[in-house]
Amino acid sequence: MSDTPATRHTPRVFSGVQPTGNLTLGNYLGAVRNFVALQEDDTFERLYCVVDMHAITQPFKPAELKTAIYEVAAAFIAAGLDPEKSILFNQSRVTAHAELGWIFNCVARMGWLNRMTQFKEKAGKNKENASVGLYAYPNLMAADILAYRATHVPVGEDQKQHLELTRDIAQKFNSDFNAPDFFPLCEPLIPAESARIMSLRDGTAKMSKSDPSDNSRINLSDTADVIAQKIRKAKTDPEPLPGEAAGLADRPEARNLVGIFAALLGSTPDDVLKDFGGKGFGDFKPALAELTVEKIAPIGNEMRRLTAEPDHIDAILMAGAERAARIARPIMADVYETLGLTGGGSAGW
Ligand code: AMP
Ligand code: TRP
Repeated sequence: MSDTPATRHTPRVFSGVQPTGNLTLGNYLGAVRNFVALQEDDTFERLYCVVDMHAITQPFKPAELKTAIYEVAAAFIAAGLDPEKSILFNQSRVTAHAELGWIFNCVARMGWLNRMTQFKEKAGKNKENASVGLYAYPNLMAADILAYRATHVPVGEDQKQHLELTRDIAQKFNSDFNAPDFFPLCEPLIPAESARIMSLRDGTAKMSKSDPSDNSRINLSDTADVIAQKIRKAKTDPEPLPGEAAGLADRPEARNLVGIFAALLGSTPDDVLKDFGGKGFGDFKPALAELTVEKIAPIGNEMRRLTAEPDHIDAILMAGAERAARIARPIMADVYETLGLTGGGSAGW
């Protein structure tokens, strides 16, 4: 436990991606690309985690889980994460996540979790049949972050509510156990232009790994031909593009495609519309397809090369887990001590 002021926490980035299927363009633009950008900033220590314990909160096939874990790790590396500069690992290898997750089950309140919109979306109509793990998922996510006392969390916009809960848990722990500043109140890092990439078939639904239609998303593993075809088939409206982003307000599909173009280019929708305002989708779609293929297809090619060597990926994840565990261990010892559990480390370490 420490009495020192709020600045004591080491600047540390943590983020996670679930191994629940192919990563999409939404995962890339909303999260993974930002993970890579943060690698250029030496003020931060960085941990990027394949959150496999989260993946078992919903129905899954054990025989496919390991491959899915390696695929996300391959996507991380193919997108530009360097296992020397960032700690890459999978969650189940560091027991601190599950341990702190349990402790947070005892800190978070039922009322807080009842407000989580992602649970409602994922559980759907049959809430009674959802796993308890799916309900407690945000507590495990808070544990992922706080087991390292991470201060910054790069995510897409859909995770904002979970990060607010993480801050509430940290604050309640700090105050209930009279341990001011024990856990930092982490800051979300949400990209401005690509916080929420929408489905190619419905501009009002999030682009998601779990959408039953493969045409609704670009997978990072899609080949150049498949990417171009999906963009050709993307839903649009009959109007030409407006001259300014304000004109996209009631046109969700057009807004999404222009947003993707801007995000891939690192510019803004207004800038994109300077070139394409007044033009129809017959002009815009081929340009978008070309840009997407240029930026995304090389990642897919590299992923295929990496996943052909699963032992190599496993070795990277194992080495990352050892580094991660070294950071988490003293923090967990501090947690046990603070709670009056026997503290000071467990027999399993
Ligand atoms: P998940 O696939 O749910 O594990 O998400 C991993 C990361 O990708 C999280 O930071 C999400 O917020 C982000 N993400 C997922 N889908 C999208 C999307 N359609 N647009 C922007 N970010 C997304
Ligand atoms: N809940 C996140 C998602 O579905 C994944 C995740 C789990 C995560 N633990 C995390 C993201 C910790 C950031 C930090 O996208």
